[in-house]
Amino acid sequence: MDTERIGTEDWAELQRNLEASIPVYDRINRFATLGQDKRWRKMVRNRLPQEGRILEVGCGPGTFAEMVPTRDLTCLDPIPAMLAVAEKRVNSKRENPATFVEGTAEEMPFDNESFDGVCSLFSFRDWYDKRAGLGEVKRVLKPGGTLVIVDPAKMNRVHGWFGYLWMRMWVGSYARFICKMKDHPWKWLTKTYVHFGTTKDYVRMLEECGFEEVSAKVIFPGMATIWTAKKTKGVEKNQHHATTAE
Ligand SMILES: C[S@@+](CC[C@H](N)C(=O)[O-])C[C@H]1O[C@@H](n2cnc3c(N)ncnc32)[C@H](O)[C@@H]1O
Repeated sequence: MDTERIGTEDWAELQRNLEASIPVYDRINRFATLGQDKRWRKMVRNRLPQEGRILEVGCGPGTFAEMVPTRDLTCLDPIPAMLAVAEKRVNSKRENPATFVEGTAEEMPFDNESFDGVCSLFSFRDWYDKRAGLGEVKRVLKPGGTLVIVDPAKMNRVHGWFGYLWMRMWVGSYARFICKMKDHPWKWLTKTYVHFGTTKDYVRMLEECGFEEVSAKVIFPGMATIWTAKKTKGVEKNQHHATTAE
């Protein structure tokens, strides 16, 4: 099982399914999380720097973006249809419009050190190369900037097994019976969860990618993890070594 990458064909199929989920996205999210997702989004909002420019990577239909109407916000997503829905929904409630940009975490179309905070809600799991994406986050963050990620929790194999059953049976039934979607796109939620690593795997990855003050908290009732990390304020150690070795 590869917890770091998703193959090209699988990722393309995942994207098609995510696009198909747009009309029911919020409803199923609320149901799948027993209404907790709003509270988790508020936790992300509280952990982001309270001033400066914010980037949301994988904004989807704008569910988090609409919760930060006064922030200087840029939203990135690879699916044009997601961006179109999000832009209409989010900017109709703002005085100063947010910016919506097509692109992926792995190749961000932004200058170095552009943002004070970067967040990703229920999207990190879908990045096709998580290490490359984190490298890009670090590049576009200003020194001392903060990254906040929220995604389903998997503390260990047993917990992962319960998560799998939950998604497959609870979310699957809802999609099939309430939303009347037989071949529902939410089966991909289960697939990406199965391939997602544990909370600790990504703490390690964040540290290996050079982030500092990395922390992770499994949020009540154990369905999601919130990771927080900072980009170093000073010159990075390995950069410094490279300079002195020249
Ligand atoms: C489940 S939605 C998350 C929506 C939103 N962030 C929220 O708060 O509910 C996941 C989004 O991540 C996007 N995504 C998938 N792969 C991505 C990647 N490699 N880089 C950036 N976004 C990606 C998808 O297009 C999708 O819109």
